[in-house]
Amino acid sequence: MDAKLKGETVLVRTSVNGREVEFLCDTRQSLLECLRDILGMTGTKEACNDGNCGACAILLDGELVNSCLVLGVEAEGKELTTVEGLADWRGLNPLQKAFVEQQALQCGYCTPGILIATKALLDRNPNPTEEEIRFWLAGNLCRCTGYDKIIRAILSVTGGAPSATHACECDKVEGQSR
Ligand code: FES
Ligand code: FES
Repeated sequence: MDAKLKGETVLVRTSVNGREVEFLCDTRQSLLECLRDILGMTGTKEACNDGNCGACAILLDGELVNSCLVLGVEAEGKELTTVEGLADWRGLNPLQKAFVEQQALQCGYCTPGILIATKALLDRNPNPTEEEIRFWLAGNLCRCTGYDKIIRAILSVTGGAPSATHACECDKVEGQSR
């Protein structure tokens, strides 16, 4: 990088998934870059890099943010939750298992952001309606699965039922929904 374009290098102390972490970063680096390129935490995905797709979603002190729009230095003293923090020694958490069981992913590139965004929703509202889930996830784009299976996976965890009006075409067999 051109020296004139470089910012200052600073030490950031933060907590990632409950673990105290320190890293050096350029003041102009995004938190997404810090997670992936400095800390090697590649679960958080980079796609649009301009705040439009939600692939890079993380929780910053419990608030849902697109980490491509947050500077690494803004993580100072904060608590970060990334997709790597969802599973524990027992394995995948119920939401992750539901995504697998309901086939709610294909390439999986959008999945970390959708899981984190869904966690943010369920932390606030454990029993959202289908409409509330769809509204909340409007900032998370998926280019390959389609959204119905994602919604169904979430509803299978919350105990809600998918609305008939949003039945997935691929789930219709000879005119009947599975
Ligand atoms: S990579 Fe951050 S919103 Fe798309
Ligand atoms: S599963 Fe491929 S982008 Fe969502």
